[in-house]
Amino acid sequence: MWWRDAVIYQIYPRSFQDSDGDGVGDLRGIEQRLDHLAWLGVDALWLSPIYPSPMHDFGYDVADYEDVDPVFGSLADFDSVVAGARERGLRVLLDLVPCHTSIEHPWFREHPDWYIWSDAPNNWYSAFGGSAWSRLNGRYYLHSFYPEQPDLDWRNPDVVAAMQHALRFWIERGVAGYRVDAIDRLLKDAQLRDDPPASGDPFGLPLSEEETKLALTHSRNAPDTGQALARIREAVGDSLLVGEVYLPSARWQPYLDHLDAAFAFELLHAPWEAEPLRRAIEATTARRGAAWVLSNHDFGRLVTRFGPENARAAALLLLTLPGPAFLYQGDEIGLADGPGGERVHDRAGRDRFRHPMQWDGSPSGGFTSGEPWLPPVDPGATNVDAQREDPRSTLSLVRDLLALRRVLGDGIELVDAPPGLLAYRRGDHAVAINTTAEALRIPFRGDALLETAPAALRNRTLAGHAGVITRSDEGVGQP
Ligand code: NOJ
Repeated sequence: MWWRDAVIYQIYPRSFQDSDGDGVGDLRGIEQRLDHLAWLGVDALWLSPIYPSPMHDFGYDVADYEDVDPVFGSLADFDSVVAGARERGLRVLLDLVPCHTSIEHPWFREHPDWYIWSDAPNNWYSAFGGSAWSRLNGRYYLHSFYPEQPDLDWRNPDVVAAMQHALRFWIERGVAGYRVDAIDRLLKDAQLRDDPPASGDPFGLPLSEEETKLALTHSRNAPDTGQALARIREAVGDSLLVGEVYLPSARWQPYLDHLDAAFAFELLHAPWEAEPLRRAIEATTARRGAAWVLSNHDFGRLVTRFGPENARAAALLLLTLPGPAFLYQGDEIGLADGPGGERVHDRAGRDRFRHPMQWDGSPSGGFTSGEPWLPPVDPGATNVDAQREDPRSTLSLVRDLLALRRVLGDGIELVDAPPGLLAYRRGDHAVAINTTAEALRIPFRGDALLETAPAALRNRTLAGHAGVITRSDEGVGQP
């Protein structure tokens, strides 16, 4: 259970560190930067896909599950990252993409029966918009995402065997587990029935506009999903499996029967207001298995999602909830989303969340000696080197949070607080987060052990937009 309260750092390999000057991040670059992660104090790193891929969805379209794309390096480079991580006490997780392959995966040509076909499309929509069916040789194949990502048929035992082989391949190479992509899309209705009109489920969390008109009752989350998940579990033993289960936590159980944790998207999608945040935490912690995430390569970064004034408090929230937390590269320095590049790379508009990491104040941010695939956002203003020297920087705050997090008690007790204030106890520590611009009185006594701004807490009054950790053993009082 190493992962029970672990902080797992998400590396978007394309944008972390380039070692060979081609403008794209790579595995040797990751190895060069492992000291940053060890210094920061995270427990593990999760690499977004590094497999060979035509990169229509930047690696989430896999053309070979048992190799490394040359743009990222080689299997030997991967082994070296794992060894370097191990030396520093860090574990490595990979991204498992089981729902679909690349259309260029040899399986699509050699084993068309491993995929889902129909003579006529039904009304299912792709998560990126448009029909989930594309025509090929007089028939239609299903793709829950881009047309370049045909969906595998997990009811076919050959698919299961091939995927189990791939899963074992990386476990034997030393990975500690997987983040499992789009797992609620793994199995769909076997009869391919139309999705019914939307019922207004508040946590349907649809991605595309078309999907808001339909309840995704048949196009995902089929009742026999658990059987496929059991096969995944069988292949990985007790390695960590964190599911990208894009469903409200009330519908997690069939997934958590086999996976260790599920991303808490209810919290990620909650507005930065105490009440909705509290409701999301309450709903999610009512069952075991939440993995916390507030930002990633699909939804953008803390500074932009919650506003620069709230980003430090958002980091404090992310890192003081009970259970594993996922920290997206760049959030430790308060990197903002960017404008994207001159050329559009991701058709779904996510380039702006994927600008390179900024290591120093040079024009390239220290990311590459070549022409970066996406320009850096603001390396002169935001970079690791400058923030390491500054005890008041976001980087210092995140590092302090990672250290203090280790002494927080088990479980969470949400505490009554004035409107706009989110307050909870973790054993004998207490956390208060002010989501408003006004100063608010907190329901805890005790001095600040950590605060998001200097002297944010004075006489039990917490400055606007600030967060604080105190010891609560001096007693919890009414505000
Ligand atoms: C979720 C991944 O995070 C996203 O980047 C990708 O486009 C889809 N799954 C499809 O694999």
